[in-house]
Amino acid sequence: MDRRKLIQAAIKVLPESYTPYSHFHVAAALLCKDGTVYTGINIENAAYTPTVCAERSAFFRAVNEGKREFEAIAICGGKDGIVTDYCAPCGVCRQVMREFCDPGTFKVILAKSEDEYKEFVLKELLPMGFGPENLL
Ligand code: THU
Repeated sequence: MDRRKLIQAAIKVLPESYTPYSHFHVAAALLCKDGTVYTGINIENAAYTPTVCAERSAFFRAVNEGKREFEAIAICGGKDGIVTDYCAPCGVCRQVMREFCDPGTFKVILAKSEDEYKEFVLKELLPMGFGPENLL
């Protein structure tokens, strides 16, 4: 896996983020196990609650195209699109990751730049998560 390329893909779409209310831009690049990459941005809404995060944008694009197996996601974000810190995924996005990804191996890469990033596996960010197998 080329982490730099995945981070680059997220950084590239950050300006597309639609955030007229918070002005907090977020972008994600999701790597499928077949090597394809789906990007996503956060899309806000005047009614606020319909807002969708960048991570879920990326996941839903991929799942819509039939993808079900994922290796990693790179995430970057910051006020007015200026990245000064690591942008961690919200709880709802972590739960969406949990639906499709192996908590022990799926990598979540929080990036400030191609060279400056922190990497976690999903179970570090969502310990004791509730997943599809709990319903079996
Ligand atoms: N946001 C994301 O896109 N991803 C996250 O995981 C954290 C929050 C967005 C939602 C909203 O548009 C803005 O950041 C401020 O919360």
